Amino acid sequence: MSLCLGIETSCDETAAAVVKDGRTILSSVVASSAELHKVYGGVVPEIASRRHIELILPVVDQALDEAGVSLDDVSLIAATQGPGLVGSLLVGLMFAKGLALAKHIPFIGVNHIEGHIYANFLAHGDLEPPAVCLTVSGGHTELLYIEEFGAYRRLGRTRDDAAGECLDKVGRMLGLPYPAGPEIDRLALEGDPRAYPLPRGLAGEQSFDFSFSGLKTAALQEINRARQRGEEVSLADFAASLMAAVVDVLVDRTIQAALETGVRRVLLSGGVAASRVLRRRMEDACSRHGFSLYVPPISLCTDNAAMIASAGYFRSLKGERSPLSLNAAPGLRL
Ligand code: KG4
Ligand code: ZN
Repeated sequence: MSLCLGIETSCDETAAAVVKDGRTILSSVVASSAELHKVYGGVVPEIASRRHIELILPVVDQALDEAGVSLDDVSLIAATQGPGLVGSLLVGLMFAKGLALAKHIPFIGVNHIEGHIYANFLAHGDLEPPAVCLTVSGGHTELLYIEEFGAYRRLGRTRDDAAGECLDKVGRMLGLPYPAGPEIDRLALEGDPRAYPLPRGLAGEQSFDFSFSGLKTAALQEINRARQRGEEVSLADFAASLMAAVVDVLVDRTIQAALETGVRRVLLSGGVAASRVLRRRMEDACSRHGFSLYVPPISLCTDNAAMIASAGYFRSLKGERSPLSLNAAPGLRL
């Protein structure tokens, strides 16, 4: 039996988890500093890293406690190496390396995006590659072909803003609190997706890439125009139109990727995968094509350390380990 302690501090969540054999979560603790960033309308890196320093020890302690294990039982420590905010990454990574050094436990650095993929392997015990995975969060929008555990081919990615970033920024203009994604998703279910004409990024282009900055600008102009005319912006209709513009391209590209690679399994991951609008639309499209859709529960969609422990475990099965000289890599790619 292998017990992996996962540590994740890439953004504003301080998280630790204990995972057995890469698939069974014994504990998963997530402490968020999101409340502290709300007044600023976005994550303030300096505040996030200070809060990580305060939380890392109690969060790791709690994860070990809830799993009913001690550090002596842990056979592997996995921590997020990147991508993310450098000051945030450093706290979790250095803490993990310190523990590994002091307790002589093997250590492995994990790519945060790879972690998001593994949320699906945690949630669905019998799921195996190959599959196509759409990872959509506040920082990333990536379409990956998972050939086997640990072997990925990137099919496409955003050329500018991430999908979640676009939702959060437009939401801020609409006066919604940060992060606006969940509220836009909730409002969208009550609105008319055709009410506001918004562009689909890279429409008509033969590519698996995404672009959301044009949509963000168009949405902001639409809001300003309405305000200048003294018109009230219907929150539900605007949210529905915005979600439709985001989800249309996400679903379209993902289905194309599954068709081209010939896989039958489609995975969703990342914070935006919590969106009910996205889940419904992807579910409809997948069932039309006879694909199986896998989505993690919401607690595993957003940042957590169980996914990092799982990804680390599967890498360690291939004999991989990281040196204790491993540094944080804010721009790390898969
Ligand atoms: O994966 P995550 O927790 O952090 C990053 O790695 O970025 O994702 C956070 C993002 C935010 O942009 C947030 O607005 C979005 O996920 N999000 C949602 C929903 N829940 C979180 N977007 C749409 N619908 C939701 N229900
Ligand atoms: Zn994330």
